Amino acid sequence: MANNRPIGVYDSGMGGLTVWREIRRLLPRESLIYLGDGKNCPYGSRPAEEVRRLADESVAALAGRGCKLVVVACNTATAAAIDFLRGKYAALPIVGMEPAVKPACLETRSRIVGVLATERSLDGELFRRTAARYAQDVEVLAVPGTGFVELVEQDLEATPEAEACVRRVVEPLLDRGADRIVLGCTHYPFLNPVFDRVIGGRDVRIVDPSPAVARRVEQLLALHDLAASEDHAATYDFRTFADEAYRRRLAAKALG
Ligand code: DGL
Repeated sequence: MANNRPIGVYDSGMGGLTVWREIRRLLPRESLIYLGDGKNCPYGSRPAEEVRRLADESVAALAGRGCKLVVVACNTATAAAIDFLRGKYAALPIVGMEPAVKPACLETRSRIVGVLATERSLDGELFRRTAARYAQDVEVLAVPGTGFVELVEQDLEATPEAEACVRRVVEPLLDRGADRIVLGCTHYPFLNPVFDRVIGGRDVRIVDPSPAVARRVEQLLALHDLAASEDHAATYDFRTFADEAYRRRLAAKALG
């Protein structure tokens, strides 16, 4: 039986919109509620217990709005809270972010892979486990994308400041021979044009897990018989714990 209730997509701020975009593209009949906390962003250097509490409040808010499935479109919140959330909201299918270390390690020819993520994600158990599992004969250079989240939150992706900031972090990875760079934070794909400029003519690929996350949502909808009906006209709702101006910026960034 079809289920036209919305899918909830949650992030600390605007980053999860990169996942929202992929879900909307793949599943155009699904209604989506995007919750960008905004008030507590960035999460990246907060203690894990605090991120867990914030993620809990957000998932509770989305469950309270009748969401049939929730996507934690934030690597930091996934790393800190996914097991806790799945335990607490056992009846609700919850999709988290996976650092795309596996595809990068399978594809790399130089056997050197860069991973960009927030500090909190990089010292989390999830990243350690994934890296240990897939990166046996590959050198993984994991570095925090310092300043990246702030640039995206302030709509500064297309500025010289953004280019300088990305160059500072990415050039050392290129110099050490990385030919795959994994984006382990959902804010970072907004900087793709800047990554492309910094990479220039080199044979280096950026690896973004968000299309795979959208496919996982599709699979879970099928598995739990939760997909919207063929004739359902999707609606898109944007919510935040910050103010109305932030909410409007979320909608503009998503739809613009
Ligand atoms: N977008 C988030 C992530 O994927 C978190 C960014 C932050 O709030 O620091 O990790």
